[in-house]
Amino acid sequence: MKAIQVSENVYWVGGIDWRLRNFHGYLTQRGSTYNAYLIIDEKITLIDTVKEHLYDEMIARISTVIDPKKIDYLVSNHVEMDHSGAIPKLKELLGEIKIFASPKGVDGLKMHFGGELDIEAKSTGDSLKIGKRTLHFINTPMVHWPDNMVTWSPEDSILFSNDAFGQHLATSERFDDEYYEDIILEEAKKYYANIVLPYDAQVKKALEAVKSLPISIIAPSHGVIWRKDVAGIIAKYTSWAANETKDRALILYDTMWGSTEIIGRTMMEVFESRGIQTEMINLQDTHMSDIMTDVIDSKYICIGSPTLNNGMMPSVSAFLTYIKGLAPKHRYGIAFGSYGWGGHGVNEVSEVMNHSKFKMLPPLKVKFVPSEGTISLIKQQFNESLDTIE
Ligand code: FEO
Repeated sequence: MKAIQVSENVYWVGGIDWRLRNFHGYLTQRGSTYNAYLIIDEKITLIDTVKEHLYDEMIARISTVIDPKKIDYLVSNHVEMDHSGAIPKLKELLGEIKIFASPKGVDGLKMHFGGELDIEAKSTGDSLKIGKRTLHFINTPMVHWPDNMVTWSPEDSILFSNDAFGQHLATSERFDDEYYEDIILEEAKKYYANIVLPYDAQVKKALEAVKSLPISIIAPSHGVIWRKDVAGIIAKYTSWAANETKDRALILYDTMWGSTEIIGRTMMEVFESRGIQTEMINLQDTHMSDIMTDVIDSKYICIGSPTLNNGMMPSVSAFLTYIKGLAPKHRYGIAFGSYGWGGHGVNEVSEVMNHSKFKMLPPLKVKFVPSEGTISLIKQQFNESLDTIE
């Protein structure tokens, strides 16, 4: 258990959560890390802490560099407890600790841990001299909570970005040039899709605020540190925040006796015939947080449900609730499904997708089992719909 040097007198002293598999509903099959950073200067400064249960690990790592009791300052970039959870134990160790947070961070920390904390508010443009270094603060509300901020150390050219640019990835490697590039990018994309996606306007503002900084290292609060491909991950965030998609379709469905799946397959054939990459996923087979990673690139989102008890299937309803909250923009939506008599399943899917601001194409509904003739009709109808937008 040791501190890992990030640059001269800057160390990673976080905790590795190897067994984490559920982060408020997000399937984290590769675990995660909570990255705290220690800056050794005239005022010894800790940037963020870790989840409460990894406090001992953080202290053990800090102890390989300095006596933890010598910490003077804590910069709390984000109130959420994966980064602030160890504050009470740290305060107990130090007696008192001077904390710096955004104005909303001050309120949030006090509401989590009580009013006695000594916290000073730092807004965008404010700074803090800690010796040779002067830390600069940029508030980045809603990336990921209203209180978020990032901390810029010009002397190190390090941006301590908190949730932004993070990945839920437990590894012993600390830097992007030490681990599998494809896995890092997949986890960064999954993280964006499940945590950051609703806040694209705020991400754009945050990117605008940091774009003129000569960043050599982005030190996020989850996953590996970006030092090889800083420009690459900024370009990815720029594209994701713009909701740029590929000519790609996702067909997501549940099925009772196979008919809704037949409609989905028919749609897949139409997409294929038009040269559009397509992926079919039964909502029973794949976790919704993994599906969201695929939503990032997909221009067409098709959601199918049979009618069960006069409504949609619960699996479809659960996914719609999740995607509605994450609010992907500028994508086409198509509801489809078979029914026996009422047919309200597809109507409900349409309603939710419409409300979620998908650009809706006409729904595809079939009574009971699609015949050969019905399949031809679906193909014709679906091709005509796609013709209107291509
Ligand atoms: Fe990693 Fe919003 O906390």
